Amino acid sequence: MTVLRTRVAIVGAGPAGLLLSHLLARAGIASVLLDSRSRQEIETTIRAGILEQGTVEILGEIPGSRVHSVGRRHDGIELAFDGEGHRIDFAGLVGRGVWLYPQHEVLRDLVAARLADGQDLRFGVTVEGVEGADTAAPGVLATDAEGRPLRLEAEVVVGADGSHSIVRRSVWGGHAAGMFREYPYAWFGILCEAPPSAEELIYSRSADGFALISQRSPTIQRMYFQCDPDLDPASMSDAQIWDTLQRRVPGTTLHEGAIIQRDVLRFRSFVASDLRRGRVVIVGDAAHTVPPTGAKGMNLAVADVVLLAEALEASLTRADERPFDAFAERALRRIWKAQHFSWWMTSMLHVAPGQSEFDARRALGELRTVAESEAGRTYLAEGYTGWPLG
Ligand code: DHB
Repeated sequence: MTVLRTRVAIVGAGPAGLLLSHLLARAGIASVLLDSRSRQEIETTIRAGILEQGTVEILGEIPGSRVHSVGRRHDGIELAFDGEGHRIDFAGLVGRGVWLYPQHEVLRDLVAARLADGQDLRFGVTVEGVEGADTAAPGVLATDAEGRPLRLEAEVVVGADGSHSIVRRSVWGGHAAGMFREYPYAWFGILCEAPPSAEELIYSRSADGFALISQRSPTIQRMYFQCDPDLDPASMSDAQIWDTLQRRVPGTTLHEGAIIQRDVLRFRSFVASDLRRGRVVIVGDAAHTVPPTGAKGMNLAVADVVLLAEALEASLTRADERPFDAFAERALRRIWKAQHFSWWMTSMLHVAPGQSEFDARRALGELRTVAESEAGRTYLAEGYTGWPLG
């Protein structure tokens, strides 16, 4: 058995784990980062694409970050319903924006920066559990990439290992340790080879359901439409996909092209009942998941980690435990705001199966209330571009 010692053991090399190791290193705190996946898998999995302004400010400070050169600033979105589009002008309403910069590009930047800095970052390591959460020396038990047992001892263990978190399951047990909400719909997502169909993202509610016209680059686009959670992605022809998307954005003519990837994303809301037990903490998707409408997932992970890095710096360099003791409560304030925002965008824009005429018209009334009022548009713009961090 290999035994390693570090100050902070981080499980999961996603945005939360990688950013935390960077912020800790900047404060002079050593960490070891473990992930079961390969570097290539981490850097190529297609995830969301929108970064809040505060997220960009943090990522932009990382040496070698391409967020400003490759990412593109968006100053608004279009909210479409009842056959009409309504622009939400983020820059004009709140003086803030968002950046279209796909998550796998964020990960490429972070992995490169961490390795260049000499980070102990181990891929292909399967974590089996965490021991001693309530002691001063918790440990992570794992199997390394060569199949040998590994024990990583630390002062703090951080589970940044996603919605199926082993750290959460190992320390808190089972699936019951949290609050859930299921949604009766999912998203059918495609990547296609085509130019953008519009300058900004379009969030559209049509009588048949929701569609989101997003982007990836000048030649690749990402689009989604609401579907049944049990739909088999292979069951629709390309022509049926384009027909479905086009009918859901009646005011826009979509530029069609070869569909190079398709997937069905089920979604739900979850908040773990505790973010911390003893010297073990969970952050990002391990602690909470949000439905994708409004793109809060990765941004919320970044916000958790900014708070946690401050708390660990106080605890590990100044023996001041107060920020660490306050961490969960402070993080949960933003987590519940983001839960509400994601739920609100989702429920207002989607058509629930069997939705009554009353509820459908009420949702249109809600969208009109938002779009036709400066206060309503400002509320959306504040949530979408992100509340201040820290
Ligand atoms: C994307 C995903 C989202 O959930 C969203 O609200 C906006 C954009 C995307 O993948 O591009």
